[in-house]
Amino acid sequence: MIWMSWAAMLISLAPVTTAEQPVDPYPQNDANAGAQPFDGQAMWRAFHEADGVSRIVDEAIDLSQSDPHISDIFRNRDLVRLRRTLKEQFCYILNGGCHYSGRTMQAAHKDMGIQTADMGALVEHLQAAMRHEHISYRAQNRLLAKLAPMKRTVVKQ
Ligand code: HEM
Repeated sequence: MIWMSWAAMLISLAPVTTAEQPVDPYPQNDANAGAQPFDGQAMWRAFHEADGVSRIVDEAIDLSQSDPHISDIFRNRDLVRLRRTLKEQFCYILNGGCHYSGRTMQAAHKDMGIQTADMGALVEHLQAAMRHEHISYRAQNRLLAKLAPMKRTVVKQ
């Protein structure tokens, strides 16, 4: 049937959104995560472990992508890689037993022109995602305190 082969062709032409784009080689190291992990398992459990972190990161990225104030920054970026490495970074910092395989915060955000207000918007989306996951305010604030010093490297280099 002709229409079926057209349908198959259209599907095969659809952009593949699950594949990551290659990046220039860099040394992989947990130190690239930009923060030391918490001690013990309390924070990992407070974030509902891998499933909770996955939901939080996905929602924070979805909200950022659809926020007209910062959506341009996320356009044409490798969000498949961003989701993976951000989940790893949070897992590493929350002491969930992951290694961080991504780039340094400096390398990842170089020349992006991120402003203080952009950082504020992203943090608000992360807070909303953590709230929806019912993370306690104390645990939210402890993670945010680990991320706060990264502002220096992320904002407009
Ligand atoms: C403490 C704050 C932040 C953390 C912890 C963080 C974390 C990360 C990580 C782990 C990556 C991926 C690294 C890699 O590809 O190897 C990344 C990339 C990225 N970040 Fe951030 N980020 C922060 C702030 C921001 C802000 C404020 C924005 C914009 C509003 C932003 C936008 C992006 C974008 C668009 C990418 C993808 C870059 C690319 O495709 O090459 N980030 N970030």
